[in-house]
Amino acid sequence: MKALVLSGGAGTRMRPLTHTTAKQLVPVANKPVLFYGLEAIAEAGITEVGIIVGETAEEIQEAVGDGSKFGLDVTYIPQEKPLGLAHAVLISREFLGDEDFVMYLGDNFIVGGITDLIDNFVRDRPDAQILLTHVNDPSAFGIAELNDAGDIVSVEEKSRWPKSNLAIVGVYLFTSAVHEAVRSIAPSPRGELEITHAIQWLIDERRNVRSTTVSGYWKDTGNVVDMLEVNRSVLETLEPRIEGDIDEESQIIGRVLIEEGARVRRSRVVGPAIIGRGTVVSDSYIGAYTSVSEYCHIENSEIEFSIVLRDSSIKGVGRIEASLIGRSVMVTPAPAVPHAHRLLLGDHSKVQISS
Ligand code: DAU
Repeated sequence: MKALVLSGGAGTRMRPLTHTTAKQLVPVANKPVLFYGLEAIAEAGITEVGIIVGETAEEIQEAVGDGSKFGLDVTYIPQEKPLGLAHAVLISREFLGDEDFVMYLGDNFIVGGITDLIDNFVRDRPDAQILLTHVNDPSAFGIAELNDAGDIVSVEEKSRWPKSNLAIVGVYLFTSAVHEAVRSIAPSPRGELEITHAIQWLIDERRNVRSTTVSGYWKDTGNVVDMLEVNRSVLETLEPRIEGDIDEESQIIGRVLIEEGARVRRSRVVGPAIIGRGTVVSDSYIGAYTSVSEYCHIENSEIEFSIVLRDSSIKGVGRIEASLIGRSVMVTPAPAVPHAHRLLLGDHSKVQISS
């Protein structure tokens, strides 16, 4: 079994963050979302991984390298343009050969990994197996329609009138039957070879296409609330570790990871929280569900339930909550508003003025 990881696509600026042009490198608990996918693949016992790269190839290659840090053997497959998920399969024919494979979209996050899913696929070996999850905005996804028996009747891509709210999650399992399917379909109106069309082709050919419904799923949509929530759920499972330097006047409470080279001075860190490499926290409070990335400076401030990306500084600003702070940001107090009291006070007056 091989894996095909899709990390291509155009390098569009992320909303609301602009810290990277590759959306697969958006950090969750200080780690790019793509890495969780690669770890899940390695955990499932797969070692041969093809990574589709596009405009942001350099950034992806720099982050992943040859894959050895994940225990993987990575082959990069350049895609000249983002011509669709099925196009990615088409150009990977040589790498995939006739082996079964898992196709994993690099910007998707699946809570709990994919090991069980792969084990089930290997045992039953349908021609294709897709993952589904309930979503509130079905028109933003590929959608599957199931009959009462739970069999897939149809799949469609980003319909204005979706037939269900069961979205297709970005992990697909295929046998080599998919190669004929991707060769047989035509580009959609948006100009892409859609994997949903290939799956529909398999269904129409009466091939065995199965689905499993999952609950823990996230895809970066630039939505701050969702991003804080996925960050929170990952921090819940954090392995606590202190690699940085904590002075005696500081307190570390609960599930906290302080990475190497981080320094904590006269501060309190209450987990689950992570403080990235080289970050300095002084005279501050870092509260639960907070990820502070590398090389930040937090001084005289309180932060809770927030994400702070690398190279940012927060100094003397009191309390920050439920916030997403990008890369190289500076948060400082506004200059005090000048105020003066003009008084005409008689002898022996007593006044109280709040300063
Ligand atoms: O995330 C799940 C959804 O992913 C499914 O519900 C949809 O059915 C499926 O079409 C796909 O929809 P998106 O439009 O959200 O896919 P996106 O363009 O974001 O691409 C997904 C990943 O694949 C992303 O990491 C970029 C990469 N990609 C995409 C295309 C179109 C490539 O590597 N090459 C491509 O040609």
